[in-house]
Amino acid sequence: MRRLAPILALRARSAPSSRGSRAGAFRRHTRDVDIPALSWLDPPRGPAVELLDQTRLPAQEATVTCTDVPALVDAIRRLVVRGAPLLGVAGAFGVALAASRGDDVAQAAAAIEAARPTAVNLGWGARRALAAYRRASQAAGEGHEDLKRVAARGALAEARLIAAEDAAASAAMAANGLGLIPPDARVLTHCNTGGLVSAGDGTAFAVILAAHRAGRLAMLWVDETRPLLQGARLTAYEARRAGIAHTVLADSAAASLFAAGEVDVVLTGADRIAADGSVANKVGTYGLAVLASYHQVPFVVVAPMSTIDPDTPDGAAIIVEHRPAEEVTCIAGQPAAPGGTSAYNPAFDVTPAGLLTAIVTERGVAQPVNAGTLRVLSAGSSFAGGPPADVYVER
Ligand code: MRU
Repeated sequence: MRRLAPILALRARSAPSSRGSRAGAFRRHTRDVDIPALSWLDPPRGPAVELLDQTRLPAQEATVTCTDVPALVDAIRRLVVRGAPLLGVAGAFGVALAASRGDDVAQAAAAIEAARPTAVNLGWGARRALAAYRRASQAAGEGHEDLKRVAARGALAEARLIAAEDAAASAAMAANGLGLIPPDARVLTHCNTGGLVSAGDGTAFAVILAAHRAGRLAMLWVDETRPLLQGARLTAYEARRAGIAHTVLADSAAASLFAAGEVDVVLTGADRIAADGSVANKVGTYGLAVLASYHQVPFVVVAPMSTIDPDTPDGAAIIVEHRPAEEVTCIAGQPAAPGGTSAYNPAFDVTPAGLLTAIVTERGVAQPVNAGTLRVLSAGSSFAGGPPADVYVER
C-alpha cells in the first residue's frame, strides 16, 4: 500500500498543482451544493420531519413528510433517508418528533435505532436526543405544568445541535482530507457521501468538493454501486449540481480501471468504524480496498468521529444488514432474474484496517489505521472547542 506522507507534506503549499494550468478552471466551476435532504417542520405544517425522497432521485425531487415515528422508521428502512451522518440527524429529529407529539420517547428511540443495524450514527443520534429530553425534563422538575413541552424543546434543540455539528464536521473533514489529495488527482469513490447524507457537504464527497475547489481534481470516477445505484443515481446527481466532471462505471469495471493506472486515490465514507479500525461501508468497498492495495493506490476513509464505535471491538462484531433479494433480482422494479431466484444481498461489507491508508475525521487524520491511532483521535479535544486540530497520528 502506498503511504501518504509525501502528499501530506504538500499541505502547507499555497499553489495547488504542479501541473497547475488546469487548476484555475477547475476552481472556477465548483458550485455550492445546498441539498435540503432533511428539514424539521414546525406547526402548522408540523411537527414533522420532511425528507427529500432519495429513492426517486435523480428522476424526481419529491419529498416525504413523516408526521410520526413509524413513518420515519419506514422511510429509513426504504432508504428515503440514508447514509450514516444523516441517519444520525434523522434519528435525533425522530425522537424530537415523538416528544413533540407526546409519544413514548424511549420507545421511539428504540424503534428508530432498530430500523437499520449497521450505521452507528442512527442509534447514536436517537440516544443523544433521548438523553437531552430526559435532562430537560429533570431540569424542569416533576411538578412543571408544561413538562412534556419543555422536554420536547430539549430534544429538538439537541437534534438541531447534532445537525450543526455535522455541518461543521463536514467542513473540518474537507480541510483535513484535502492534504491527502495529490495534484491533478483521479479520485475513485463508492456509494454516496455528499450533501444527501449530511447536514453539510458530507464526508468523502466534502473532500472531493474541496479538491475540486482547490483545482486538484482531474477526474471523479463514480462506482455505480449496485444493487441500488447510490453512485450512479446520487453521487452523479451531487457531482453534477456541483459542476464536477465525473464518469460513472459499473462496479465490475473498477479492476480494469486500476490496472490501467487511472486511479490515484480512493475516497469512501463509513457506516461504522470498529475500535480496531475495521470499516463497515457500502458493499463493494472491501473489494475496492483489496484492488487498491494490490495496485498500491491509497485508500482513504472519511468519516466523522460519531461513526467510530469504541463499543464494537473489531470487524467481526459489526452487524451487517442484509436486505431483500428483490433489490438484486430486480432492476427498477422489473425482474432481472427468473422468478424465485434467491440472492445474497448484504448492504455493507467490512474492510480490515490493514487495507486502509488513512481515516480522515474532523479531529484529524489517523495514519496508519489501528486501535492505537483511533484512540489518540478519540482522546483529542473536539473541533467544537476551537479550530480543527491538524492531528496526524503516527505509530
Ligand atoms: O445503504 P446506504 O445507502 O445508507 O449506505 C450508505 C453508505 O454506505 C455510505 O457510504 C456511508 O453511509 C458513508 S456516508 C457518508
